[in-house]
Amino acid sequence: MDQSNLTVYVNIPFCNSKCHFCRYVAPIDTASLVDQADRYAEYVAALKRQIAHFLPRVTEAGRRVSTIYFGGGTPTALAAEELADLLHTIHEHTAGTCDGASVTVETTPENVPGYDFTALRRAGFNRVSMGAQSMEDQRLQMIGRSHRSKQVNEAVDLLIGSGFTNINVDLMFGMPNETEEELVGNLEKGIALGVNHYSIYIYEPDPRTVMARLCETPYTRLELEEKCRLVQDFMRRAGFENYNVFYFTSDGLRCDCDDVYYTLAGDWVGFGA
Ligand SMILES: C[S@@+](CC[C@H](N)C(=O)[O-])C[C@H]1O[C@@H](n2cnc3c(N)ncnc32)[C@H](O)[C@@H]1O
Ligand code: SF4
Repeated sequence: MDQSNLTVYVNIPFCNSKCHFCRYVAPIDTASLVDQADRYAEYVAALKRQIAHFLPRVTEAGRRVSTIYFGGGTPTALAAEELADLLHTIHEHTAGTCDGASVTVETTPENVPGYDFTALRRAGFNRVSMGAQSMEDQRLQMIGRSHRSKQVNEAVDLLIGSGFTNINVDLMFGMPNETEEELVGNLEKGIALGVNHYSIYIYEPDPRTVMARLCETPYTRLELEEKCRLVQDFMRRAGFENYNVFYFTSDGLRCDCDDVYYTLAGDWVGFGA
């Protein structure tokens, strides 16, 4: 990656519910994470001020914005118009250096029905990253997800229907009491979704989370290495290219944002919480 490339990360620290395993929102108390709709406008206005102040100072040094990533939390807790407004603010303050950028928004399956993804496409978002975590309902219930596997399938269909072709699905493995049968079934049902990119994370017990407090650290290093090998072999056999340990692409389209984190190629600037 060219060193003059810049990744712009925008954090939206809200969700509709708090999952038992989530290390991203672990320090945020549940009341401040969910049911914050009356504070969204205030947060969006503050983000816009921050972007307008700092972004021109970063891009005037000759950097080109190659990747824009709206992550969370769950960015689609905000309305499509609010996300479009934020993306517009980024465009306004980068003097045309965003052309051709990959623009991702994270979402969850239960957020997708009824959400105006077509408006996000029109605004310039061209990639969606959705957390499924598992395709097994019992596991989804155990980890505190508010969707079930049927909703993951429906959400992918809706995203494709609204014009998105570049879609990532997050899955997790190595959670407590996971059998090989569960892991393989999960991968099979995951790839049956037919999207072009998967991020398949090893569960990392974060001591600040409910799940880590209630369950013992599940596996030895050796057992985890075996699970990693199983995942990588399975995905390669299914035709996916593996990069940066956890990422799998079927069409060569990578998540540049993750390349920046893992290879330290290029710079990034983050806005928000
Ligand atoms: C910001 S969240 C994803 C977006 C969205 N809020 C969702 O849950 O669908 C990023 C991803 O990090 C992963 N993740 C969160 N906590 C983790 C943990 N303790 N260990 C491993 N992966 C974790 C999950 O796969 C999750 O989808
Ligand atoms: S996994 Fe996603 S929806 Fe669940 S608490 Fe974390 S950011 Fe929110």
